[in-house]
Amino acid sequence: MVRSRLRALTALLALLVIPEACASPQGGGTTAATTAQPPSTTSGAPLACNNSPDLCSRAYNNITHMGAHDSAFLRDDTTGNSIAGNQFFNATVALSAGIRMLQAQVHLSNGVLELCHTSCALLDAGPLDVCLAKIKSWLDANPNEVVTLLLVNADNQPASSFGAAFERSGLSTYAFTPSFSSTGNNSTSSNSSVIAWPTLQQMIAANTRLVTFIAPLPTDNTTGQTYPYLLDEFAHVFETAYNITSLASFTCALDRPSTFSASGASGALAAGLLPLLNHFAYDLLTQDIMIPDVSDIDTTNSPNETQTGALGDHARRCMAEWGGDVKPVFVLVDFYDRGPAIETADRVNGIAGRAVGRMSEPGKSGDQNSGRKLEAGARVAAVLCGWFLLESAGAFEDW
Ligand SMILES: *[C@@H]1O[C@H](CO)[C@@H](O)[C@H](O)[C@H]1NC(C)=O
Ligand SMILES: *[C@@H]1O[C@H](CO)[C@@H](O)[C@H](O)[C@H]1NC(C)=O
Ligand SMILES: *[C@@H]1O[C@H](CO)[C@@H](O)[C@H](O)[C@H]1NC(C)=O
Ligand SMILES: *[C@@H]1O[C@H](CO)[C@@H](O)[C@H](O)[C@H]1NC(C)=O
Ligand SMILES: *[C@@H]1O[C@H](CO)[C@@H](O)[C@H](O)[C@H]1NC(C)=O
Ligand SMILES: *[C@@H]1O[C@H](CO)[C@@H](O)[C@H](O)[C@H]1NC(C)=O
Ligand SMILES: *[C@@H]1O[C@H](CO)[C@@H](O)[C@H](O)[C@H]1NC(C)=O
Ligand SMILES: *[C@@H]1O[C@H](CO)[C@@H](O)[C@H](O)[C@H]1NC(C)=O
Repeated sequence: MVRSRLRALTALLALLVIPEACASPQGGGTTAATTAQPPSTTSGAPLACNNSPDLCSRAYNNITHMGAHDSAFLRDDTTGNSIAGNQFFNATVALSAGIRMLQAQVHLSNGVLELCHTSCALLDAGPLDVCLAKIKSWLDANPNEVVTLLLVNADNQPASSFGAAFERSGLSTYAFTPSFSSTGNNSTSSNSSVIAWPTLQQMIAANTRLVTFIAPLPTDNTTGQTYPYLLDEFAHVFETAYNITSLASFTCALDRPSTFSASGASGALAAGLLPLLNHFAYDLLTQDIMIPDVSDIDTTNSPNETQTGALGDHARRCMAEWGGDVKPVFVLVDFYDRGPAIETADRVNGIAGRAVGRMSEPGKSGDQNSGRKLEAGARVAAVLCGWFLLESAGAFEDW
């Protein structure tokens, strides 16, 4: 029964194409205008690491890495502007624009690891291998950049399956394998150890510029032996709540892992876990139906430090709450280009207005109307497809 419903949903999704008048020039296909900036490594210029010379000597865990939530799930012309999509631009466009963490859900579909949204029938963004290969190509072309992947292992596949995909795609050549500062050099206990994070410059010099977290990461006979660069997310990272349906509800409290429920964020920080701010909201169409809240996105992703629901406000509050010099090391947002969200990361990193080497998204030239038209079209689609969303709500297990 579930399968036939999903088939119906897939068919409906295919119909979910927003009319031409509502389609946005942001939706890909168009070529970059004259907005692209030169690469950061022109001879004579100071070396920039992750878009700034100031970040080279900074430890990886003393930087805010701006992230795209559900980075593979697009609301663009490749998905008929799917209202289930979380981003207007794909992962490599996002990297070129300065995003340095990509988050995605990985499911098992017919024996293959695929990037799917809740279920592969709902939104399938293709094989993990293909995505990893594109990230590998991007890293090839951008030798001073350190990128982090956060993969949700929705079907609890063994580390060896992920490791094999990293090897096949070639991405493993860039994989960062940590050393541990507390419990020493013991890969079998790596998920209970504190990582001695190097500086970006050290990672770039070693050409180990890809950090990978996976949750969950089931141990099998090869975990930690063959693929020590695959890190168990919740041994190293803690998160704020991800299931937010009101802009007033963003908090700084630890939500996961539950092992720190009692001691909270301060306990996790003391144990060396890196904080991840989930800063995206859902629209609750009915009690169970949730879709990315695009209508409030200019507020949600705003760098404003006092406005309720704004990323700037959320980050400021958390830094105050966590004490002293603690940055949100990772921030995940939907529709990252709006706000723009990266302004908040730049401000936390102390490089506001001085980032270099970023490229504007294709077709994006400050045409604010295009986004608004898209939203209007999407609202129509949302009404038409209410039942479809109802079906998908039961499977909600998103971040
Ligand atoms: C972290 O970076 C800040 C600059 O944002 C710097 O002042 C501080 O000393 C760094 N902390 C550590 C522990 O290196
Ligand atoms: C993103 O889109 C561009 C074309 O617009 C394409 O070249 C690139 O491969 C895409 N990246 C991903 C990760 O799909
Ligand atoms: C771990 O220990 C082995 C054997 O003592 C050594 O060869 C290796 O370099 C060490 N690795 C790290 C990351 O310290
Ligand atoms: C590594 O850690 C595991 C788990 O804590 C422990 O059982 C094992 O003895 C350790 N191995 C070494 C060589 O220290
Ligand atoms: C690794 O983490 C998992 C899940 O948190 C836990 O069950 C396991 O015991 C940990 N392994 C080690 C060696 O600490
Ligand atoms: C792990 O290794 C043991 C002993 O070699 C073997 O019996 C078992 O089937 C292996 N398990 C997996 C999941 O590969
Ligand atoms: C998310 O929040 C909604 C609304 O508060 C609630 O109905 C739902 O059960 C929550 N889902 C999860 C997975 O926490
Ligand atoms: C930030 O938001 C507050 C409250 O909405 C508003 O009063 C203020 O003008 C905003 N600041 C900026 C710089 O936009």
